[in-house]
Amino acid sequence: MSNAWDRTAPTPSPYPPAAPTSGPAPAAVTHVLKRTRQVRDFLPTAVPESILTDILDVARWTGSGGNRQPWTFIIVTEPATRARMAEIATYTPHIGIAPVVICIATVPHGNPDNESYDEGRLSERIMIAATAHGLASAIGRVRREHQAEIGALLGVPEDQVLRSMVSIGYPTEAGRAPKVAPGTARKPLEDLVRRERYG
Ligand SMILES: Cc1cc2nc3c(=O)[nH]c(=O)nc-3n(C[C@H](O)[C@H](O)[C@H](O)COP(=O)(O)O)c2cc1C
Repeated sequence: MSNAWDRTAPTPSPYPPAAPTSGPAPAAVTHVLKRTRQVRDFLPTAVPESILTDILDVARWTGSGGNRQPWTFIIVTEPATRARMAEIATYTPHIGIAPVVICIATVPHGNPDNESYDEGRLSERIMIAATAHGLASAIGRVRREHQAEIGALLGVPEDQVLRSMVSIGYPTEAGRAPKVAPGTARKPLEDLVRRERYG
């Protein structure tokens, strides 16, 4: 009989595995998650439509507060539009370089904390799906003072807000190179984790 307090004993999960049993092992999924990084160096090569559709379908399945799904995804590939967007929005030159930028327009619903949380989950899932397809991706946030101008450029209704964009595309050789030596880009787990209480 298993002893519930024996942490070395394997406990059967009451839930089915997240990945289909015929699909990738958990390690394959966590590998993709750990490889999902901000990569800003893109080739101009077009992203195949089937891959883009799969990424957007992953985005569609993102959970949102109250299941509101308050978003519309605007796919921008036109170089002149991306160049103008990169002129307006500061700190996001990658949107002028990547062949595809997924812009997220959302309907504000009076809970800015949840709105940002939703957009964070959505952006991250887009990046993870892109990474799984061998693409690079990069977040671009539109600062408040530039949101109306970018929104107007893309015809976003005035009662909606455009503050998150995700650039995707195939990485250049520089973009494919490891960004920093493994283990140095993030704090070690022992600095981040507490058991039961903070201190
Ligand atoms: C809320 C948020 C806003 C960000 N805004 C930008 C941005 O405007 N431009 C940009 O190039 N990167 C932006 N980033 C990307 C971060 O710089 C990146 O996640 C961080 O440096 C870690 O990168 P790494 O995963 O490649 O190590 C943003 C990330 C987050 C989570």
